[in-house]
Order: sequence, then structure tokens, then C-alpha cells
Amino acid sequence: MAAAAAVVDSFLLVLVTFLSLSPALCSSRSDADSLLQFKKLLKNGDSKLNNWIPGSSPCPKKWFGVMCNGETITGLHLTNLGLTGSVHVKPLTKLRSLRTISLVNNRFTGPIPEFNKLGALKAIYLSNNQFSGEIPDDYFSSMGSLKKVWLNDNNFTGKIPSSLMQLPRLMELHLEGNQFSGKIPELTYPDKLNSLNLTDNKLEGNIPESFSKFNASTLDRNVGLCGRQLRSHCPTLDKSASSSAASIILITVTLVVVMFFVIVGIASMAQSEDDNMRNLNCSREHLRHIEVVPDLTRPKSIKTSPKSSLSSTIKQGSSQRMNNMNRMEDLTMVNGEKVAFGLEDLMKASAEMLENGVLGSAYKAEMENGLVVVVKRMREMNKLEKDGFGVEIKRFGEFKHPNVLAPLAFHFRREEKLIVSEYMPCGSLFYALHGDSGLFHARLNWQNRLKVIKGISEGLGYIHTQLATYVVPHGNLKSSNVLLTESYDPLLNDYGFHPFVNSDSVAQGLFAYKSPECLQNQHVSPKSDVYCLGVVILEIMTGKCPSQYLDNNNGGIDIVQWAQTSILENHVEELIDPEILSSSPASTDQMVRMIQIGVACTESNPDQRLNLNDVINKIREVN
Ligand SMILES: *[C@@H]1O[C@H](CO)[C@@H](O)[C@H](O)[C@H]1NC(C)=O
Ligand SMILES: *[C@@H]1O[C@H](CO)[C@@H](O)[C@H](O)[C@H]1NC(C)=O
Ligand SMILES: *[C@@H]1O[C@H](CO)[C@@H](O)[C@H](O)[C@H]1NC(C)=O
Repeated sequence: MAAAAAVVDSFLLVLVTFLSLSPALCSSRSDADSLLQFKKLLKNGDSKLNNWIPGSSPCPKKWFGVMCNGETITGLHLTNLGLTGSVHVKPLTKLRSLRTISLVNNRFTGPIPEFNKLGALKAIYLSNNQFSGEIPDDYFSSMGSLKKVWLNDNNFTGKIPSSLMQLPRLMELHLEGNQFSGKIPELTYPDKLNSLNLTDNKLEGNIPESFSKFNASTLDRNVGLCGRQLRSHCPTLDKSASSSAASIILITVTLVVVMFFVIVGIASMAQSEDDNMRNLNCSREHLRHIEVVPDLTRPKSIKTSPKSSLSSTIKQGSSQRMNNMNRMEDLTMVNGEKVAFGLEDLMKASAEMLENGVLGSAYKAEMENGLVVVVKRMREMNKLEKDGFGVEIKRFGEFKHPNVLAPLAFHFRREEKLIVSEYMPCGSLFYALHGDSGLFHARLNWQNRLKVIKGISEGLGYIHTQLATYVVPHGNLKSSNVLLTESYDPLLNDYGFHPFVNSDSVAQGLFAYKSPECLQNQHVSPKSDVYCLGVVILEIMTGKCPSQYLDNNNGGIDIVQWAQTSILENHVEELIDPEILSSSPASTDQMVRMIQIGVACTESNPDQRLNLNDVINKIREVN
């Protein structure tokens, strides 16, 4: 969905690295230049940096503080040098293998430098400086490789960025001795984090459940903070608050997000309604005492009897009896052939947040019957009333195409809209391409990439047939909205949202609005989907992250421009991801043809752009 789309930006986008257009020619010379540019704005360093001499080579072990692996620069360790001045990050973006930066024990001031331009960094150590000010909430969302973040003993203020707590590999987090305030955001991957210190800040509110394994020595000396680990306990939600609209929303989130408490009871449960109600009461008890936290500590496998009549039993009992729920209606199932479940089942599911973006947030929810789904809480989608919303989602629910993911269910209230769909454990194409160079990526060979491109174009063709009356049938095609199965079959997701999205969010929330015709004259059409398809094709063929996905073209590569130029100059092969080029040299011709198709799709004048059926046919011909 669109939420996922933009969303991914905060969660998966994470993994964007900064890529320079120029191939790795005479790298040590330009590395030296980059370092010298960086040094230019530093002040007061003692003489240790004097051996950074123009014309000499930084590696190996020649320049002070420069860590090398052979001839490649991997780290910059400028500690205890009394440095001030500014940290000029831009030149460092050229150091493609830079993974660690340490500026510990210097005298730097001002806001946190733009290290988030260095998407591949694994460790940042800024301890004991005088950096100050707020860190933007999404600062870390382009830094998915980060494992170690030491910002302690500075003068940072404002909230702890939620993007920091969502880093998938975070192992060490030290923020002690700052002035961070507000609530501690939920920690998405608590299993990884093994070294934490948040003491001596101004944090307040409940300690999220995801920090349960940490004790007081990591959280002390935050006056407003409360929770089990500390001596100060949190006040419980009182009655009047719990009947207010605000708390109903809070509770809804809570319900959708977590409820593992009940699961143990349910596993051994007899099927009587009494027992069901006891569980519900139990869960409600807990709701009064906990804050919303994705639960990751629940038992891993939960067995229930296969003939679970749970959803229907609970459904009936609940609507009259659960105070907090009486304004909520149940889920509407839209994909009849698949399993049925109720809102309560979902509520009892343990959940974790996957993404958070312009159009909403997505949670992975595992129900006690083992079914795992994705629940999306939609924001900015108030254009359709309940009936219209239902009609459209039901229509999507009936879609049957091997490359299109149909939703399973939805829930609609004015203030809460949920769309439920199947969970795909392999994640998105975006992640597969730009994630890390792990196993998954390695297997994205030419044959699989061809399969993915074919599947995407066929799925898009289907959506265009089904939603032929839409202004723009898909509207949000980009690699983060393409999910992959284990066998590399792509599944299109988050399509058809154009009629739903509030007018003032549509340009931000839907990728079709990044097409040239839209930027020029606010016009989107089915041809805008063709443009988006072209971007995805070029992305798959080059393996590069398109700058088109990022706001303000902040990072990534303008692959459309690059491809057009290379074709004009007859250098098409330079576009091809070296990984597939070297492993399937015999297929170079097909790769070149595919790039030409991608370029034809991204033609900036929509009238001269191929139409979708022609694109599909051309892609079918590439074998
Ligand atoms: C830290 O920041 C606070 C608030 O901006 C300011 O009052 C204080 O002087 C700063 N302290 C240092 C050591 O810079
Ligand atoms: C907190 O946990 C650490 C190890 O995780 C342990 O060394 C320390 O003694 C504990 N402190 C308290 C107050 O329980
Ligand atoms: C956290 O930092 C504070 C202040 O430096 C220190 O006293 C405390 O021992 C640290 N706690 C842990 C668990 O490292």
C-alpha cells in the first residue's frame, strides 16, 4: 500500500547506500581529496593531522586516524584531538567503504552532522563533545546498517528519534548524559540490542515493554520515567480517560499491536464462552496498565486446536461486553476463500511494527492459530465514506492474479481504518536489491531479475484491466511495494489507493505523483504507472537505488537521467549491475534490451511513452 510505500522509507529504506556515478577509478587519489576537503573545515586539531598531505596516499596506515583495509578506507578515528569547527560530511560520501566514524572526546558543537548521508555506516561514536539540538525523527531511517551508536555526554535535546529505535541491526546504543526528553520510542528489534544506556536524560513516561530486559542501571536518573525496572511505578489509565475518544484510539492501537497475555490462557482453553470472556477480561485488565508496545518476547510457537471457533464466539461476546470495544465493529473479510478471523483474533495477536510512513503504519500480527498477517493502519485516507471504502477494498479482495496481492479484510471507522493482508516473510524487492549484500541479494541473479520484471509487468497489466476506470490504476508502484515470494515471484501491493487518499497527501503518498507529467502540470494518468514501472526496471537492472524514491533527491542515483545519457552515448552496458553482468555474460543482449525498455517507459513526455500493453509484450519477448 501507499503507506508501506512511503513508509518503507522509514523502515527499509534504511538500507540505501550512497552511490556515486563515477566508477571506481583512481580511487586512492580521489579518496585523499575527499579527506582533505573534510579536513579543511576542522579547526584546532593538534598537529597529528599534519601528515594528511596532498599527493600522498592515506592507506595503508599512512594518515593519522584513517583506518584502512588494504587500499580502501574503512574508518575515521579522530579522537582526543581537541577538534572544533564543522564536520563536513559531504566529501565523505565518496568513500564507498567507510563504515566507522569516531569523533570521541573533541569539542565539536552544534547540531548532529549529516552522517545520515553515509547510509552504509556501521558505527558512529560522538561521545564527549558538545553537540546539541534535536535530532530529526527520521534521521536514522537511511542508515539500516548501523550497529553501534554512541552519542553519550553531549547536549542533545528533544525526543529520541524513533528511526533510531527502529534500526534492524542496532547492538549498542548510548545516549546517557544528554537532555533527551519525552517518551522512549518503541524498540523494534530488542533481541539485537545488548548494550544500552539512557541514564541522565530528561526522559519521561512508561518504559516500553521492549526494554524489559534492561534494568535500572541503564535507565536511571530520568526524573519523569516510570516502570517496573525503576522504583517509580506508572499511574494506570483511569476510568474517565478510558472512555474518552483518545483512549479508545490508544486502546485500538494497543489491541492491534499486542496482546500476548491472553495467548497462554487461550492455548489451553476450553471452547466455552465463559472461558473466552475470562480471557478478554484478562486482556482488558492488562490494557489499563500497559502502554502500546510491539511485543517481541512472546513465546514463539503457540498451539491451538485447529477447529478454532474462537473468532465467532469472541466476536459475539465482545461487542456487547467489552466497554472499550463497543464502538468498534468487526472486520469485514474480503477474500472469502482464505481463512476467516475476527478483530478479536487480531487483537490478541502478537505484533511488531514493520513500517511507518505518510499513509500509515504497518504491523506484522501473528494470531494464535498461527496465521500471520500484515495490518495496516491507514492515515490520510478519508476521501471515501464507509460504503465506498468497502466497495473498493472488496473489489481488490477478489483480485486473482499470481502477481497481485489481494487484501484479506478491512475495518472501517471514521477515525480508524485497517487493511489486513497476508504477510510475506521474504519482504520487498527494495529490500532484496538494496538491503545488505546478504544471501537474498546474492540470489537475485539475472534469471530471477527477469522473472521479477515479467511478473511485475503482468501484475500491473492485470490491475490496469481491473481498475480501468481509475485515474491511475496502481498509483504507487515502486520496489518497496513489490513483495517477493521465496521463489522470486513478485506480488504487487498497495495499489489502487488513488480514490482513497486525501487530496493534500496524494502527492506525498503516491509515487505516481513523482512522474514528470505530474511535476510539470499536476497531471497523472495510467501512463504514470508506466513511468513507475520504468523506474523499477532500471532499478532492477542497475541494482542502484533511484533518487526518485527519496525526498529532495537526497541520495541515490537519478537512474532515469543516467540511463538516458548512457543510451545516447552508446554506453548501455555500464548501466548493468556488475553482479549480473559478470555471472551471466551470455545474456548481455537481453539485459541491454531490458534497459532500453526501461528507458522507453521513463520517457518524460507521456504521449511518447510506450503504453502498458506494448511494454508487456516487449518484456515477454526478452528471454
Ligand atoms: C545545553 O543545552 C541547554 C539547552 O539548550 C543550554 O541551556 C545549556 O547551556 C547547554 N549546555 C552546554 C554545556 O552547552
Ligand atoms: C543490571 O544488569 C547488569 C547486567 O546486565 C548487571 O551487571 C547489574 O548488576 C544489574 N544491576 C542491577 C541494579 O540489577
Ligand atoms: C550508564 O551511564 C552512567 C553514566 O555514565 C553510568 O554511571 C552507568 O554505570 C552506566 N550504566 C551502564 C549499564 O553501563
